[in-house]
Amino acid sequence: MGGKLIVFEGVEGCGKTSQMQFCGQWLESLGISVIATREPGGTELGLHLRRLLLEKADNQPIAEVTELLLYAADRSQHIEQELKPNLAAGKYILCDRYTDSTIAYQGYGRGLDMNLINQLNLIATGGLTSDLTIWLDVDVEVGLARKKGGEASLDRIEQETIAFHRRVQQGYGELAASYPSRIVRVDGNLSQETVQKMIQEILRVHLNELTL
Ligand SMILES: Nc1ncnc2c1ncn2[C@@H]1O[C@H](COP(=O)(O)OP(=O)(O)OP(=O)(O)O)[C@@H](O)[C@H]1O
Ligand SMILES: [Mg+2]
Repeated sequence: MGGKLIVFEGVEGCGKTSQMQFCGQWLESLGISVIATREPGGTELGLHLRRLLLEKADNQPIAEVTELLLYAADRSQHIEQELKPNLAAGKYILCDRYTDSTIAYQGYGRGLDMNLINQLNLIATGGLTSDLTIWLDVDVEVGLARKKGGEASLDRIEQETIAFHRRVQQGYGELAASYPSRIVRVDGNLSQETVQKMIQEILRVHLNELTL
């Protein structure tokens, strides 16, 4: 049996990390072996890149194309070191963010050239696309309020303007409309329990190897 790449996407605070955990536990309870990973930061090298990308750099801002290249470098390493071997071993990989994040954040959010982004995504992934992407569609304000209510301080991207986050959100909407069979929208404003159940339903339908 080949592995599956299941990606969780959405704006800040939409519930990716928590839903990925619930989903992993649920799959494990069904006897399915799961790997949980994330971008950026799914490898040791990637952890260094994640820190560079997300820490607040007040006096030396990261140039936009530099940011794009750092995300691509993280992705390339992640695919070679984590995704390809685990997929080959038949694992289910749950991944917190992937190529759609780059399109949404660097493309729609920053306004970088989509052709450049698509080329870099292709170089970094070697054409590896997700089998299924769950887009947790939460209102930007709701997601940010969840983050602000939490313990951790806001990272460099979370501190961007509301207008930036709205463009990112619009990006996810357009991506979902363009790739309806790969990207499935879930209303992330609903309760965690409801979202969890909806994701399980989606997985049941989409991953026909799961005979539940
Ligand atoms: N459906 C929900 N309803 C209410 N609160 C939620 C819901 N989903 C997640 N939360 C809470 O919102 C916060 C952010 O959730 P989580 O970390 O899972 O989001 P995320 O998408 O991973 O965020 P980030 O973009 O920062 O990685 C957490 O405190 C979590 O408990
Ligand atoms: Mg998270």
